Amino acid sequence: MSILNLSEIYRAELSDEDFDKMGTLIFKMAGIKMPPSKKIMVQARLKKRLRALNMNSFAEYVRYVFSKEGMDMELIHILDVISTNKTDFFREPIHFSFLSGQVLPQFMEQHQSGSFKVWSAGCSSGEEVYTLAMVLSEFSLAKPSFDYSILGTDISTAILAMATNGVFTESRLKPAVPDCLIRKYFMKSKDAAQKTYRVVPEIRRKTRFNRVNFMDDSYPVGEKFDAIFCRNVLIYFDRDTQEKVVQKLCNYLKPGGYFFHGHSESLIGMNLPLKNVKPTIFRK
Ligand SMILES: C[S@@+](CC[C@H](N)C(=O)[O-])C[C@H]1O[C@@H](n2cnc3c(N)ncnc32)[C@H](O)[C@@H]1O
Repeated sequence: MSILNLSEIYRAELSDEDFDKMGTLIFKMAGIKMPPSKKIMVQARLKKRLRALNMNSFAEYVRYVFSKEGMDMELIHILDVISTNKTDFFREPIHFSFLSGQVLPQFMEQHQSGSFKVWSAGCSSGEEVYTLAMVLSEFSLAKPSFDYSILGTDISTAILAMATNGVFTESRLKPAVPDCLIRKYFMKSKDAAQKTYRVVPEIRRKTRFNRVNFMDDSYPVGEKFDAIFCRNVLIYFDRDTQEKVVQKLCNYLKPGGYFFHGHSESLIGMNLPLKNVKPTIFRK
């Protein structure tokens, strides 16, 4: 790509009309709200696509998106650049202490043995999945008859590829993950300059990842879960969409199963088959 071309992309601006078109499309595809306050953010993120396609203007890009070829090829890339993937290991740690202190001992009282199934719905790059894996694995060390499996799903295929890979930089891991857990559950890259760590195979084997779009009528997850973590995802949807998504998620929760949402989200006033047990924690 020429320097001239790059500077044209740098200056490219999304018109209000094209922003409306893209916002409506993104809302229809992913349920993500696109108020005018998000225009600058959308413009900045879509510039990555202009660069990738070697296009100079948003007018050209938006025409392409709404063409037959664009509809077939580009939508997946729009979701990859538009979705906000902020996540962390041990994010909102109260949920993990509630899981190991209450939910898992209760599960063992009721089942004696068996496999505890968790769904990280909107898992981003996998930090939530592997945090759950460490917590469940630690519990299984004390209770050998306990087993578990974790499903991670997201709408973005690019972020799911990162999650499946299970490779994290040192700065992602530290200080969120205690050193004793890093030593146990991660392998340091042999190339010292890289400072990356990969989740150990024993843990990766307990996890699987799939693409699920919450806007679909049903979710291809193949089973019901003892717990669903759907945290910091609902916040991007309007109230009506949030309620519909949680209602559908509840179809995949076992009776007595737990539902966890993020601390900046609320289910108050929604028509759901859930009872509130603690702030942000519900039970079917
Ligand atoms: C901010 S991250 C939250 C990650 C993790 N749950 C946490 O709390 O750290 C939100 C994730 O939701 C995903 N997402 C957004 N809209 C979605 C949709 N319609 N269907 C499925 N996932 C979606 C995004 O791709 C993103 O990875």
